[in-house]
Amino acid sequence: MEENKVGVWLIGALGSVSATVITGALAIGKGLISSKGMITSTDAFSNLGLVDVARLRFGGCDVRKGSILEAVRQGARESRAFDPELVGLIEEDVQRIQPYIQKGTNRNCGEIINTISDPACKEDAYLIETIETIRNSIRFFKQGNGVNRVVVVNLASTEPLLKFHYCHGDLDDFETALKENDVDAIRASTLYAYAALKEGCAFINFTPSNGALIPAIIQLADKQGLPIMGNDGKTGETLIKSALAPMFSCRDLKVMSWEGFNILGNRDGQVLNHPENRETKIRSKDQTLTKVLGYSPHSKVGINYVPSLGDQKTAWDFIHFKGFLGATMSLQFIWQGYDSILAAPLVLDLVRLAELAMRRGEKGVMPHLASFFKSPIGVSEYRLYEQFQMLLSYADHVRKDREKMRIVN
Ligand SMILES: NC(=O)c1ccc[n+]([C@@H]2O[C@H](COP(=O)([O-])OP(=O)(O)OC[C@H]3O[C@@H](n4cnc5c(N)ncnc54)[C@H](O)[C@@H]3O)[C@@H](O)[C@H]2O)c1
Repeated sequence: MEENKVGVWLIGALGSVSATVITGALAIGKGLISSKGMITSTDAFSNLGLVDVARLRFGGCDVRKGSILEAVRQGARESRAFDPELVGLIEEDVQRIQPYIQKGTNRNCGEIINTISDPACKEDAYLIETIETIRNSIRFFKQGNGVNRVVVVNLASTEPLLKFHYCHGDLDDFETALKENDVDAIRASTLYAYAALKEGCAFINFTPSNGALIPAIIQLADKQGLPIMGNDGKTGETLIKSALAPMFSCRDLKVMSWEGFNILGNRDGQVLNHPENRETKIRSKDQTLTKVLGYSPHSKVGINYVPSLGDQKTAWDFIHFKGFLGATMSLQFIWQGYDSILAAPLVLDLVRLAELAMRRGEKGVMPHLASFFKSPIGVSEYRLYEQFQMLLSYADHVRKDREKMRIVN
């Protein structure tokens, strides 16, 4: 087993973000593209001992039928964001991943995810059996790739909100609910997070699905001595909100309304077009303004599915604010980005930082990763600049630790 190879197990491996993560990592590893967009490749994160992107090995699961090569090809074709010929240069490496893409579970994922799933996924296995199946898939991946450290990243479609269940607050109660096959207590993301931690993996929830990091799962991470973090990657409209909203406070301008309207066309958009899945996303997006401003302006976020847009996301925001002498003014912005292109480098940064945390024996929530998430768990700081300072301070701390170790040795 080579110590310096690291496993990345992607839930939703055939999806657009996963395909872009794999394409980008393999292309970086082969020296075909630069790592532009990855903050961990900048000078501020040098000398931390982060794993090389070339040392990452990929596997995962999905509920849809399909091959990883087709997903990667489709990603390049549909995003229209980069030269599709790049795929030809990494094809063989992509094919090597195929045996490690296993069937996932769509347990309690709602109607729209059932519709896109392979019918073979409609399982009625006991919860503990499903957990065992996920653990077996991770073990198979570890053995096949000779990796002993794995970061599991949830990149599956957004689930409907998981409602509060008494067992969520306590690990013992939660494990009893699993044994009693209490399916109302979980969504698929809960089972994945539980299985990943039991299998000794770090866990990142890049989705807004609130079933993944319930308090019982956070307790399990502490107990297992493993790092976790989420929720919901911050890549577009909310990223801007967290950078821009503090400006209004700095000038004592009162934000009265902040309306946002998003249109997107990929499969994520198709799933979010479904009201119960959209609610999960909107809840996750909603908190930023209140946390940053300290009050709640009138604010609504709309998400519409426009198939012809593919991976291109457009967000239009209108901000109505009041200043000196009660004068009312407004600001509007339009953000146009490729959703998966914005998300993939963040996923690679998170994998590298989670793996570093694992090696350093850090456990539980990783607050220093707040800047990557729309709803960072265990963190009350929502301002982007301050969140980024938390990451830089962590990097300094790691660097000093490494320096001390060097002197001692
Ligand atoms: N900029 C971004 O793209 C961005 C930002 C933040 C969060 N996210 C979240 O990341 C996730 C992935 O986005 P995407 O654009 O790749 O979506 P996608 O629809 O292209 O991919 C999701 C994949 O997950 C699979 N899936 C669904 N339920 C599953 C389950 N229970 N188990 C295993 N696989 C399952 C689907 O079959 C699909 O292949 C979404 O939840 C999205 O909201 C994306």
